[in-house]
Formats: sequence, structure tokens, C-alpha cells
Amino acid sequence: MLCVDPQFRKNPAVPDAVVVEAPAKLNLYLRILGKRADGFHELESVMTTIGLYDTLRFTANDSGSLELECHDAGRPVGGAGSPPESPPNGPTNLIWRAAQLLRDATGCAAGAKIELWKRIPIAAGLAGGSSDAAATLFGLNRLWKLNASSQLLHDLASQLGSDIPFFLCGATTALCQGRGEIITPLSLPAGLSVVVARPATGLSTAEVFRHCRPEPGTGGGQQLAAALSTGRLQAAAGHMHNTLQEAAFRLNADVLQLRDAFSQLPFVGHLMSGSGTSYFGLCHNRNEAARLAGRLRALGVGAVFVAQTRP
Ligand code: C5P
Repeated sequence: MLCVDPQFRKNPAVPDAVVVEAPAKLNLYLRILGKRADGFHELESVMTTIGLYDTLRFTANDSGSLELECHDAGRPVGGAGSPPESPPNGPTNLIWRAAQLLRDATGCAAGAKIELWKRIPIAAGLAGGSSDAAATLFGLNRLWKLNASSQLLHDLASQLGSDIPFFLCGATTALCQGRGEIITPLSLPAGLSVVVARPATGLSTAEVFRHCRPEPGTGGGQQLAAALSTGRLQAAAGHMHNTLQEAAFRLNADVLQLRDAFSQLPFVGHLMSGSGTSYFGLCHNRNEAARLAGRLRALGVGAVFVAQTRP
């Protein structure tokens, strides 16, 4: 779920800008059920957003063209091995593609300047690019006063990528099925504390999917959500699962090293997010998360930060 940033909007230098905060996500559960005829994989996933954001600012321009400016807004605190973080500035960026698709679908001829302040690491399984694309559909719909329906935005989001519709669903946590675009909002207690670590290297989503071994069987995501919604963290941890993890371990030794580091520490549960390479641990509370993050930093396994799931 995206949010419009009122602080930023009041900036007198750009009074008519629309500013959107685009959150990162974690997969608390991700089971790949099988390969489909269209080349994608059928999956069941529980996605939740965390308090790590990219910021996008959309400003009208009179030229009718699109302009995209990407800034590195710094990474979440700490640790060695920060990854290179430069998304493309031009038409290959998902943000640009989202803007163009929205214009094509609505016949809109308006232009926009889009500025991105990037904090979410890329190629990290945190869906930063997908969240930015969703923010673009949402933000430009407002800026250009298009009144595009939620259904149209959802359809455009699905065309752009499997993870993108989740960010438009209006909930902070959801069960995602199909190739990721069939969304059922879930209600979880806010403010679960997690420690996230991202090694120096990333992984290509398509490559990880190519190497995964599907595991038929549904229902695990709902069981995890039911345990979390009643505050049974330990039971929830028993259901945390990611089919893509084994493939990522084979493709990238840094992820395996992270798994080993997290295994040495008393997390309630731990898992790779999405197709990696980020790895996260679930904690009882913020203090425990801060303490365990410190121990991970001392091991030098990557950039480590503490986050909370969003209300
Ligand atoms: O949908 P998106 O473009 O984000 O997916 C990136 C790649 O991940 C796809 O090209 C595909 O190889 C793989 N993928 C998949 N099944 C899914 C989602 C993604 O095979 N449900």
C-alpha cells in the first residue's frame, strides 16, 4: 500500500507536486506451485510492506514529454557491502514504462517530471522497482486527474509485473496468488519487528525462478496469516517458507552465508525475501531486533537494518 506524503506536498517550491512514498515488501511466505503454459509460475505468497521507502515526486510539465530523474537517497543504516544502486534513468525503467502505459491506456497527452529518491536496494527481493511502478500509476493518475478506476490501475499493474498489483490493493499485507496478481487483503497486527540483511550481490528474479523446483500444495500462507493475526509468533515462524530459497542458495553463496548467520542467532524465524538476495529475521520486539541487528553487523554479512511491518 502506497501513501501520499503530506509534508512533501506542502513544499512551497513545488506546490502542485504529488509525492508518493513507495514501501519495500517482504515475503513472509512464498510457495511456487508449478510452471504455467505462459512461462510464469503459479504461486501462493504472503506479502507485507515494511517501513523502508523510495520517494517519488510527480510534477506536471507543459512539453507533453516524460522526464525521469533518479537520486540515490542513501541506504538504510549500516554494514559492509552496500550494493550498486543505480536504476536506469530512461525508458527501460519500470517507472517510465508505467507512465507510458497509463498514458496509452487513457489517451492522456500530458507530460510529467518524475523524480525518484531511491532507498530500497535493487535486485534484493524487496520489490523496490515494483513499488515504484505502482506509485507511478497511482501518482500520475492523481497528477493528471485521470480518475482511472482501481480495476484499470490493477490491470495495468499486472501487465507491468507480477508483484505490482499488491502495492495498489489498499492493504499492507495480502495473500497473493496466480502469478502474484490475484490479491486477497489480510489483516495482521501492525509493527512486527524484523531485521533485514542485504549482501553485496543481487540476483535476477527470472534466473532464480528458472532454477527453482516447484512444490505443489496450498494453504500454508493462510495458516501463517492466521497464526500471526492471533499473535502466535512461534507458530507463524513454523509456517515461514520460500521455495525460491534453495535455488538462490545454489546461485549465490552470499545468501547461503546469510542463512547461516541468521541461524546462529535467536530469531523467532528467518527466511529469504522473494527471489533474494535479502534475508530477514522475525523478532519479538524492536529492542530484540536492534540487538540482533548489531550482532549481524559485527559478522559483516552485508547491509543490515531494522524495520517494522506497517499498520
Ligand atoms: O512479473 P515480473 O516481470 O516481475 O517477473 C520477472 C520474472 O520472474 C519473469 O520473467 C519470470 O521469469 C519470473 N516469474 C515467474 N513466475 C511468477 C513471477 C515471476 O516465473 N509468478
